[in-house]
Amino acid sequence: RQVEIAAPAEPAENARRAKIGVYFATWWALNVIFNIYNKKALNAFPYPWLMSTLSLAAGSAIMLASWATRIAEAPQTDLDFWKALSPCLVLTDADRLVAEQVAIAHTIGHVAATVSMAKVAVSFTHIIKSGEPAFSVLVSRFFLGEHFPAPVYFSLLPIIGGCALAAVTELNFNMVGFMGAMISNLAFVFRNIFSKKGMKGKSVSGMNYYACLSMMSLVILLPFAIAMEGPKVWAAGWQKAVAEIGPNFVWWVAAQSVFYHLYNQVSYMSLDEISPLTFSIGNTMKRISVIVASIIIFQTPVQPINALGAAIAILGTFIYSQAKQ
Ligand code: 3PG
Repeated sequence: RQVEIAAPAEPAENARRAKIGVYFATWWALNVIFNIYNKKALNAFPYPWLMSTLSLAAGSAIMLASWATRIAEAPQTDLDFWKALSPCLVLTDADRLVAEQVAIAHTIGHVAATVSMAKVAVSFTHIIKSGEPAFSVLVSRFFLGEHFPAPVYFSLLPIIGGCALAAVTELNFNMVGFMGAMISNLAFVFRNIFSKKGMKGKSVSGMNYYACLSMMSLVILLPFAIAMEGPKVWAAGWQKAVAEIGPNFVWWVAAQSVFYHLYNQVSYMSLDEISPLTFSIGNTMKRISVIVASIIIFQTPVQPINALGAAIAILGTFIYSQAKQ
């Protein structure tokens, strides 16, 4: 009897793993495409606040259209669900207070990464962003009171050391670019933990949860984008970019916006199935393909010592994942 019950579990687990494998491969491929078009567009039009807003707007529009045409099933949400996504600070329940900052964390992480990519090479932003697992441990330790075995803390040394080596040897170092990537790391660690909390026990799928998160982030980001850059600057910059690049520029902006949504949607479909930690590791591995692709496409000058720093940081993530297990 036991064999009868246990037998179907293995194919089901294999199918689940295969599904996560497909999600990861799709997530990474879509992310490479996003990064290329995002940087092309930012090179011609250096307004990261608008670029971030357009990504969220595209995602919101795609999902509203998918729900309206029933390509995707609309989530059954209630006021509580939306309240839980919105940045409401007046709460008594500490657990909910935490979960409710997810849209703020997503907005900050997204705009900070885009500001970084506007200032430095894509590869540099992603080398610094490969330090995300270190932030994950520090946040879990100091904000959530989690304790880890010593090897986990030791594994942070190559991650932090490798990122530091890559940063100090970066030919086009820029403090805003560096800080943007660091802030994005911190914000996204919180976003992943809060999202996992928010999705737990809910009937809303990862895809729809991300769609609702995009809409909420768009509402938060838009006024800040107008204050930081504004329509006048955008109009002048847009005209200049179209005059210099031609219609291709509009395609780059459209592609970066659509691919931003697609890769994040797939990443949330993975997050629905895995822990925030596994997600962070998958995200760091993703950066290897982004770093290599962007160095080739943008012909970014790299010194051997700079590449060594990146390699040490990424190797540190492998050691970290082993130590964590
Ligand atoms: C963003 O704009 O949100 C970042 O470019 C994405 O960062 P990620 O690679 O951590 O998703």
